[in-house]
Amino acid sequence: MIFKIDLINEKSFEIIKNQTILQASLEAGILHYHACGGKARCSTCRIVVQEGEENLSPPNKAELKLRNQKKFPGNVRLACQTRVTANGVKIQRIIKDEADLDLYVYGKSSENIQTVGDEKSMALFFLDIRDFTPFIEKHLPFDVIHIVRRLNILFNEVITQHKGKIIEFSGDGVYAVFGFDEPVDEAVNNAYKAGRQILSSLHKLNDNYIAKYFDYKIDVGMGLHAGRVIVGKTGVKENNPYTVMGLPVNVASRLESSTKELNNNFIVSEYVYEMLADKNDLTEQKQINLKGASEPFLVRLMGKPFAKLG
Ligand code: FES
Repeated sequence: MIFKIDLINEKSFEIIKNQTILQASLEAGILHYHACGGKARCSTCRIVVQEGEENLSPPNKAELKLRNQKKFPGNVRLACQTRVTANGVKIQRIIKDEADLDLYVYGKSSENIQTVGDEKSMALFFLDIRDFTPFIEKHLPFDVIHIVRRLNILFNEVITQHKGKIIEFSGDGVYAVFGFDEPVDEAVNNAYKAGRQILSSLHKLNDNYIAKYFDYKIDVGMGLHAGRVIVGKTGVKENNPYTVMGLPVNVASRLESSTKELNNNFIVSEYVYEMLADKNDLTEQKQINLKGASEPFLVRLMGKPFAKLG
C-alpha cells in the first residue's frame, strides 16, 4: 500500500507501508539529516507533525527513550522510527542545514559577560526587521519563531565578532552597544562594519534558506549613533543584563525608525559618519527632526532603498 505525505514548504512524496518517513524522504531526493544512520540516537532526523498525527505509527521504545531525554514536545517525531498508516500526514523537517544543527542539536555556549558600571562614549546600534507582519500572517507559529531565532543568531554572531554586545532582543528587533573595551572611534567603525556584514549575511540567508523554504525575503532597517551614556548591570544573579542609558540611545533608536521615512536600510548620524575610516564623500546627507530638539539633525544614508518584500 502506498500513501502520500506532504513535507510542508518542500515537496510531497510517496511512502510505502512499513517504510519509515526517513527512508521515503531520502528516496524522494530530500537531503534529510540522519547522523546516526536511523538508529534513534542522534535526533537529527526529527520532524514536526502539523497534520495527521493519528495516521502515524506510535513511538517505539527507542524513540520514546530519545524523546524523553531531549524533552521533545508531543508533535515532534523521529523520521527514522515513524511509519505512515494513512494519507493526510503533513510534516516539517526541523534540521535543514548546519546552522540548524547548532541551533537544535549541539547548542551554543552562553556568553560570559563581565560586570560593568561606568559612564563612557559608546556606539549605539538599533536594528528592526522590516514588514514582518505579512510573514507572521502567512506562516505557521513554528516557522515564525524558527526564523526569528535564525535571524537573532545571525545578528548576535556578527555583533559579537565586532566586539559589540546585545542589550535587548525584541520580537522583531535588536539593540546593541559597541565600545566596552575600545575607544569610541574604534567602536563606531566596528558597529558600522557589523551593520554592513549583517546586510550581506542576510542577503545570503534570504537566497539560500528563507526564499527557498518560505518563499519570502527578510529586510532590516538599522540606525547607528554614538555618544556619552551610562552603562551598568541592573539584573539579579545570572539574569544580569546590561543597561545603557542616555539621550544618545534615544537618538540611535530614532535613526532606526527614520529608515522608513528616508527609504534607506542603514542610517548613521553625521557624528558617526565623521568618525568612519571607510566613507564616501558622495554619501547622501539628510535632515531629520528629533523630538524636543529645535534644530534639525544631520544624518547620512549609508544603505540601500528597501526591496519590495514578500
Ligand atoms: S537518524 Fe538519528 S535519530 Fe533518526
